[in-house]
Amino acid sequence: MYNITVIPGDGIGIEVSNATLYVLKSLNIDFKFTEASAGHKCFQDTGTTIPQETIELSRNADATLFGAVTTVPGQKSAIITLRKELDLFANIRPIKSYEDLSSLYDNVDMVIIRENTEGLYSGIEEYNEEGATAVRVITRRACKRISKFALDYSRKNNRKKVTAVHKANVLKKTDGIFKETFYKVAKEYPDIEVEDRYVDAMAMFMITKPQEFDVIVTTNLFGDILSDEGSGLVGGLGLAPSANIGESNALFEPVHGSAPDIAGRNISNPLAMLLSSVMMLDYLGESHEARRLENVIIDLLKESKILTPDLGGSNSTMEIASEIKKKLE
Ligand code: NAI
Ligand code: MG
Repeated sequence: MYNITVIPGDGIGIEVSNATLYVLKSLNIDFKFTEASAGHKCFQDTGTTIPQETIELSRNADATLFGAVTTVPGQKSAIITLRKELDLFANIRPIKSYEDLSSLYDNVDMVIIRENTEGLYSGIEEYNEEGATAVRVITRRACKRISKFALDYSRKNNRKKVTAVHKANVLKKTDGIFKETFYKVAKEYPDIEVEDRYVDAMAMFMITKPQEFDVIVTTNLFGDILSDEGSGLVGGLGLAPSANIGESNALFEPVHGSAPDIAGRNISNPLAMLLSSVMMLDYLGESHEARRLENVIIDLLKESKILTPDLGGSNSTMEIASEIKKKLE
């Protein structure tokens, strides 16, 4: 049996979590789901966006499923806190086209691996007389760890090329260390092709020739931005899953946020979170059930009959979940 901590969060985080649990309960796997709170509503109820109890439930679980939270300026970000507390240093964000689903591209298959614990998300910011300053922390240890992770990931998943993305021409010291460390680590992986790109050019190449990229490794903020851009190539945020991996913990979440613009209307797309749970099943070693669920989702997209409005359909969040459950049976 697997102990899974579920943090629905706020807004559509709650809707897509409900839909995901509804589907997971119909798999041939014994799960024990424990709900934990975090986010804006949690702050209003308890005075903190992420109670210690939630962090411990997540730490002690076999894996965590995270919906999405609403973040309010001045309040601690629940998800960034969890990533740091559990040292979930690698954020894996696949960007893949689905056959027959109308999107900008139908032949993209890349994976963004984002350093998840430092960079401009270190949370070191202060006001001064002129305005404010943020500190971009880059350590050799984290650069080495994420480079190694990306290269190992490529090997394990039969990928051929890793592109390191940075802005070392301007951020000479911080990204200088990132780039230099990447190439140093890559020497131990002669079987994998390596290259590097400036992040601004990369933002363009991802639109003009996304087929040329395989695995991308980058620092925290760049990875955040490029992964939303990447999702736009292949169907949008409603289809973008992610895994946050550490030495002894893992958390799976859709790339999207709490989407207050559509929350409460039961029209959010649960597939990003369901695809995140496919990543969780693979992490747990349940590859048979992972493929079964993934194939049902691929089938659903291929048929393009039952879809949420973000993909041009008119079905509700729970109608997607019901259809998937039906197909699984
Ligand atoms: P967002 O990702 O919530 O939404 C961006 C756009 O994509 C919106 O138009 C939304 O309706 C659409 N969208 C997102 N997910 C969708 C889905 N599953 N189905 C259909 N449409 C979907 O980003 P936004 O609006 O910038 O942020 C909203 C809140 O979420 C903010 O408070 C932000 O801080 C927070 N946020 C939280 C994240 C997390 O919990 N990991 C990640 C990103 C943002
Ligand atoms: Mg983001």
